[in-house]
Amino acid sequence: MTITTVRAVVPAADPAFRADVLAGLAAPQRAIPARWFYDAHGSALFERITDLPEYYPTRVERRLLQTHAAAVAAITGHGRAVVEFGSGSSAKTPLLLSAVDPAAYVPIDISGDFLRDSAAALGQRFPGLPVHPVEADFTRAITLPPMIEDAPRLGFFPGSTVGNLIASSAVDLLRAMARTLGDGAMLLIGMDRIKDPAVLIDAYDDAQGVTAAFNLNLLHRINRELEGDIPVDAFRHIVRWNDGIARIEMHLEAMRDLAFTVSGHRFAIAAGETIHTENSHKYGPRDARLLLAAGGWTSVAEWANADDQFVLILAEATPVRSAP
Ligand code: TRP
Repeated sequence: MTITTVRAVVPAADPAFRADVLAGLAAPQRAIPARWFYDAHGSALFERITDLPEYYPTRVERRLLQTHAAAVAAITGHGRAVVEFGSGSSAKTPLLLSAVDPAAYVPIDISGDFLRDSAAALGQRFPGLPVHPVEADFTRAITLPPMIEDAPRLGFFPGSTVGNLIASSAVDLLRAMARTLGDGAMLLIGMDRIKDPAVLIDAYDDAQGVTAAFNLNLLHRINRELEGDIPVDAFRHIVRWNDGIARIEMHLEAMRDLAFTVSGHRFAIAAGETIHTENSHKYGPRDARLLLAAGGWTSVAEWANADDQFVLILAEATPVRSAP
């Protein structure tokens, strides 16, 4: 008799995920890069975050686009290739595309399945618009599809995603975008403003616990994909406002002394220690312009809502010049 052992289907472990997790769990301030939040489950949870009553950024930014997309188009003109960084569900994209009448749309996202689904949905909504999805981590250099070679570019970077990077990485990314998008490129970027910390904390610690589930999913993902036995119930989601550098921080805090294994490596965490999982930097008007300038972009128009909660900035690639 032959005995066949059927094993549960475990997703193939990504060596980069394993390396980041093992190094991050061993660091003095434990930390795991936020890009690993976005497996299929994490991406779905993130979509729910954008609908939460406490999470104002998505709603405010969508409104800004509804109100000002025509003004954006008046400056950018028509027929650019729109390149969206971290496109996710592309929920806000139609508002921009309808106004700027692009030559092509290039969504870039790290979550492949999610990317293909939303690209397909968008293609249906804009028949005749060439859509060229690129599955990539946009914080690294990206080669754009050759099909859009001749069109001038409009980068689209909504959602205050730039705020999830520390300043030096944000500048590196903005400079890489300027290089990727080329001469004469423009960039429409959304940034969240500095405001009452209580409002900010609620936005990242909602009453329904969706953001907590999103944060904790990272530990479930480690258990699923990296042969981990982390007792996820022994961690809690915590949110801090770091006033000195104007950012929200998300951590996972151990509620008791713990020991666990990931990919054969043993870790011990004491009660009260945290794993740092996300930053969300907030920018005042001058902070925002300075960051853009450091990254090679000049702000040409800005639209904020009446309470100045969130701003959309249209910038142009700063021509290289030698004069001061
Ligand atoms: N960039 C957005 C923000 O910082 C969205 C986001 C990224 C987010 N990671 C998050 C929102 C984690 C909530 C939790 O607000």
